[in-house]
Amino acid sequence: MKILGIETSCDETACAILQNDNKSIQILSNIISSSANLQEKYGGIIPEKAAREQLKFIIPVIESALKQADCKIGQIDAIAVTQGPGLIGSLLVGVETAKTLALVFKKPLIPINHLIGHFYANWIGHTPKFPCIGLLVSGGHTDLVLFTDHGKYKYLGGTRDDAVGECFDKCARLLGFSYPGGPKISKLAQNGNPKKFPLPRPMIDSNNFDFSFSGLKTAFINLVEEKFRTSKKAHTDIGSSWKEVSDSKNNQDLADLCASLETAAIEVLVKKAALAVLRHKANQIVVAGGVAANQKLAEFLVKTIKTKNSSREVIFIPPPILCTDNAAMIAASAFFIKKEINPLKLQANPNLSLS
Ligand code: KG4
Ligand code: ZN
Repeated sequence: MKILGIETSCDETACAILQNDNKSIQILSNIISSSANLQEKYGGIIPEKAAREQLKFIIPVIESALKQADCKIGQIDAIAVTQGPGLIGSLLVGVETAKTLALVFKKPLIPINHLIGHFYANWIGHTPKFPCIGLLVSGGHTDLVLFTDHGKYKYLGGTRDDAVGECFDKCARLLGFSYPGGPKISKLAQNGNPKKFPLPRPMIDSNNFDFSFSGLKTAFINLVEEKFRTSKKAHTDIGSSWKEVSDSKNNQDLADLCASLETAAIEVLVKKAALAVLRHKANQIVVAGGVAANQKLAEFLVKTIKTKNSSREVIFIPPPILCTDNAAMIAASAFFIKKEINPLKLQANPNLSLS
């Protein structure tokens, strides 16, 4: 079976074709076109601009995916598309295109929740076993769920304010880095001392599965202001604090700041994920979302959880290209969530959630 997936929930325009055999699901093509360079100029995503770019790219991206998979649209068995959550203008581009293709070529249409889609990146080439804990860590989400079967899950908890990726992005912005800041923080952190600057681990001992990252962000901002701001002028321009860090001629400070921030956030994520595994007697954990590309998160998870579960493969983390937004995860989901919908009835839903 071959499924074509379409993803346009944020600033990516993505199309992928996946095929299954008796054992697993394989990627035949995975095309991602991003307007991130354009958005970088403005310091963030402007929804209207993102949607206009997606409108330009959607057809060429689908054509490239078919070409790379050496496949004609007639050979596709079903079309999967992100229904939500996301930016409404962006979602509409993917949803309306998928509906049109499904109607014209008479293909089944399967709507996918983008958040569930992220988890299914772990089912490409692998078969995690139920029950398993899902940890979603992205720019908009930080959630823990318990999966008992395909399409069956219980929401355990999530962030009460900022998502972990958002915390990284906002702190990076203070240091003068453009979106997405997470990878830049993570790269600089490699040469830093994570113990140099004490930062809070919010809710680490709260004995539930909720998170809070806005206090960590505020503590980081205050730290940078206190330690590195030498002039008295008001902090009005983004990146001014970072300029003073870099002007301090000690880039080690910057690496130490990044390492301290990264470790503070990751320690909370790992402690709660480990608690969820233990409390729900899950043997495996599937990690998903852009922050799942973070190497230190992977290391800490392996160190903390694997040791408690003998040597079996217990932690699933997709390769970085499948952690951030992509259409392969949307197509992969549709192999398991076969809820076909009448194309005329499908509507984009920017407010879909996990809870
Ligand atoms: O899943 P995603 O592509 O988009 C959302 O649905 O949000 O995640 C993007 C987020 C951004 O906050 C970005 O900074 C973060 O993932 N991110 C990382 C890394 N790569 C991406 N954060 C930390 N370390 C990374 N290596
Ligand atoms: Zn996403």
